[in-house]
Amino acid sequence: MTADRSLRAVAAERGLHVGAMIGPEPLRTEPRHRRTLAEEFSAVTPGSALKMGPLRPSRDTYDFADADAIVDFGLEHDMYVRGHALVWHRQLPEWFQPWDYTDDQLREFLRDHVHTVAGRYYGRIDAWDVVNEAVADDGSLRETVWYDALGADYVADAFRWASEVSDADLYYNDYGIEALTEKADAVYDLLADLLDRGVPVDGVGLQLHALGERPDPESIRENVARFRDLGLDVQITEMDVAFARDDVPDDPLAVQADYYREVTAVCLEAGCDALVVAGVSDANSWLRYFADFPERYTGDPLLFDERYRPKPAYDAVVEALAED
Ligand code: XIL
Repeated sequence: MTADRSLRAVAAERGLHVGAMIGPEPLRTEPRHRRTLAEEFSAVTPGSALKMGPLRPSRDTYDFADADAIVDFGLEHDMYVRGHALVWHRQLPEWFQPWDYTDDQLREFLRDHVHTVAGRYYGRIDAWDVVNEAVADDGSLRETVWYDALGADYVADAFRWASEVSDADLYYNDYGIEALTEKADAVYDLLADLLDRGVPVDGVGLQLHALGERPDPESIRENVARFRDLGLDVQITEMDVAFARDDVPDDPLAVQADYYREVTAVCLEAGCDALVVAGVSDANSWLRYFADFPERYTGDPLLFDERYRPKPAYDAVVEALAED
């Protein structure tokens, strides 16, 4: 029986890191959060603390306190630490205005950022999301501040810069690429090309925000397999499962649990080495505060309820891990 064994213990036997993406606040203020994270999870990702905005309160300063608190907690509890994210087009600092810089200056600025942040965590972070969400839904490269100034090769450059200062595995991370979608095809082509050119990419992160839609597990299996055939590691990096408020099934917790079970089984069979969910408890979910998400989606997408009690989804993941 598995009831007396933690998620973390069961996952360890299958060689899978099971993680949570977290913010600094509940870690500081909520003992149940600390306890559940340490006992039940073997991996941790700072949700926002390592993004450029939170890290850089002013032009000339960095504030690593929140990121350090999370990374140090992970190291103290023998966890696998995912860094997220070095290059992204969102959560940039408020003071950062691209028109204050020439294109060459923006390139230097981004290189310095990657060197400073990835370098500072040398030896302490196991995997970095080096580039996050660079591909648009139609498969083209997204027109971001970085694309506009540095050109398409900023993706390759970011991986090279990270590899100059970091011993972590280097990941490309995105949403909508979990199953065999057009966007996943585009990311596949992008990563295949980078590998061909000798760019140091080690893995691909599939966010898996199952909000209203749940990507087909069989399709996920095939997609994970093809990335693995390229020589990449594959991780699920931000999983949560919620329903559109106008389309909630009769037994949402059971449907949610079934989906977590299927994804865990597929992830194991296809050879993912980490399954990270987007928070410890439902109380911490971004669906409860981000943009119009509270109106659009049910707000209980995770494995523990707001009082940190394990949900059916928790049991389902443990069962999937315990099966041979
Ligand atoms: C989210 C965080 O969870 C929120 O706290 C923040 O306000 C917005 O970003 N894709 C990602 C994550 O890669 O970094 C995002 O996280 C969710 C979408």
